[in-house]
Amino acid sequence: MIAKKGILMICLAMFLGNIISAQTFKYIGADKCKMCHNKPATGDQYGKWLKDPHSQALKTLSNQHSMDYAKKNGIADPAKDAKCLKCHTTYDRVDAKLRGTLLQSEGVSCETCHGPGSMYKTPAVMKNLVQAKKMGLIVPDKQVCIQCHNKDNPFFKEFNFDTYAAKIAHPNPAKKI
Ligand code: HEC
Ligand code: HEC
Ligand code: HEC
Ligand code: HEC
Repeated sequence: MIAKKGILMICLAMFLGNIISAQTFKYIGADKCKMCHNKPATGDQYGKWLKDPHSQALKTLSNQHSMDYAKKNGIADPAKDAKCLKCHTTYDRVDAKLRGTLLQSEGVSCETCHGPGSMYKTPAVMKNLVQAKKMGLIVPDKQVCIQCHNKDNPFFKEFNFDTYAAKIAHPNPAKKI
């Protein structure tokens, strides 16, 4: 009996460990967030992100500024160069095994700032912030932003969290009283 219980406990511990381990949090892509986060009444985060430069960040690597910089610095194609892609797409920042349904074309996507969504995307988890955080949700602060908004970026501008966060704000008005 005791041995059986012991095995059960080990199995349970392994099962929970597996759920909680960050390794199992995969990226699902902005399209999956869209189905719930595109309602004007709750802030249309998806629509706001489409208008925010982050969603256009891969395209930027083919614009004139990027081409001029590439020419001067011996880069053949910035939109294919890891040196640029690592900050201009979520896709190129993450372990290939965790990419799931994430697309490179999304540029800097929701999950760069909010964490990989495979485990927190379900309605029951999403409605419970404590639970969602255990399942990989990040409520981003300055530390998240300065992973990219720093001097490794050839087009760096002074970064101020409050002004920058205000420019991309996508609050849920239904939450404010
Ligand atoms: C099945 C619907 C659904 C999906 C899919 C979904 N969410 Fe949510 N999400 C919700 C609901 C409901 C809430 C709670 C109400 C709110 O805060 O808007 C929420 C809350 C949030 C919050 C606020 C947490 C807080 O309280 O500060 C963030 C951030 C978030 N979701 C990000 C995402 C991201 C990123 C994705 C895609 C990877 C995603 N959600 C997918 C339904 C969903
Ligand atoms: C994965 C890298 C990455 C992270 C993390 C990141 N950004 Fe960005 N951000 C970019 C890139 C790349 C651009 C330029 C996009 C373009 O113009 O194509 C950008 C542009 C911006 C802009 C537009 C600046 C302008 O000149 O109009 C704002 C505002 C901004 N980010 C705010 C933030 C905030 C706030 C955070 C943290 C919550 C953050 N970013 C996190 C990569 C990132
Ligand atoms: C360390 C992260 C990082 C790296 C590496 C990086 N970028 Fe960026 N890039 C950013 C961020 C963040 C911004 C937004 C800066 C701001 O407005 O404050 C940006 C903005 C830009 C812009 C400005 C948008 C415009 O049209 O003027 C261009 C162009 C650009 N990056 C091209 C490149 C190219 C080309 C490379 C590779 C040689 C590269 N970036 C590498 C993070 C990075
Ligand atoms: C560049 C980083 C960045 C990206 C990309 C981003 N967010 Fe956010 N998001 C933030 C920040 C910063 C906050 C405010 C956090 C706080 O409340 O302190 C936030 C807040 C939220 C909230 C909570 C709103 C509220 O008032 O409760 C939701 C929901 C959300 N984001 C969903 C999304 C979805 C869905 C996407 C993609 C379509 C997305 N975010 C893309 C940085 C980002």
